[in-house]
Amino acid sequence: MLPDASFEAPTDRGMIEAFVQHVFEGTARPVVDAGCGTGRMTRLLASLGVAVSGIDLSAGMIAVARGTSPELSFEVADLSELPYADMQLGGVFAWYSMIHSLPGDLPRIFSEFFRVLAPGGHALLSFQVGEGHRHLSRAYGHDVSMESHLFTPEVIAGLLAGAGFIVIAQLTRQARPHETTPQAVLLAHRPANED
Ligand SMILES: C[S@@+](CC[C@H](N)C(=O)[O-])C[C@H]1O[C@@H](n2cnc3c(N)ncnc32)[C@H](O)[C@@H]1O
Repeated sequence: MLPDASFEAPTDRGMIEAFVQHVFEGTARPVVDAGCGTGRMTRLLASLGVAVSGIDLSAGMIAVARGTSPELSFEVADLSELPYADMQLGGVFAWYSMIHSLPGDLPRIFSEFFRVLAPGGHALLSFQVGEGHRHLSRAYGHDVSMESHLFTPEVIAGLLAGAGFIVIAQLTRQARPHETTPQAVLLAHRPANED
């Protein structure tokens, strides 16, 4: 239903382009699209010149991503247990992917993002703004059972700081007509000099 990134708001695209620029100017190491789904944003990042691979918990999503983009690398993995060595990456891109995790699991996930990033690496996260959680039983014309959690940018920024990140930019925008909540995108980095 969402084959590419043309659906994304121009403001959000601006944050993505800033993330890419920071990755190029930072460590120049590879990026993981963490919770890549069918790989539509992985393809966007690759089209911008980023060395990117995708991971997702869903084997079905990964099968679609591999089928659509055989030239890219996709792997089944959990946000809280990324298949990378310490300080291996230049960027972690988490586009609406930690929204399905329990709030209590986020410190572990953000510590994992921090662990795999080289000093000077960047993370970009997007999520629906609010509080509590919601359950969808119908979406895209199908019966579904989907839990997602809403967060305020302040809560996410605080958790990122707790994992060692410095939040360098924070976007909150109004809901577009088809959306039910405002949306947020946070750009954070692992300090280059951790002394
Ligand atoms: C709303 S979709 C977004 C997909 C993609 N980032 C995009 O924008 O098209 C959320 C994705 O996160 C994945 N996901 C949720 N929890 C995860 C976890 N703990 N580890 C890895 N992937 C996860 C889901 O399987 C799903 O593909």
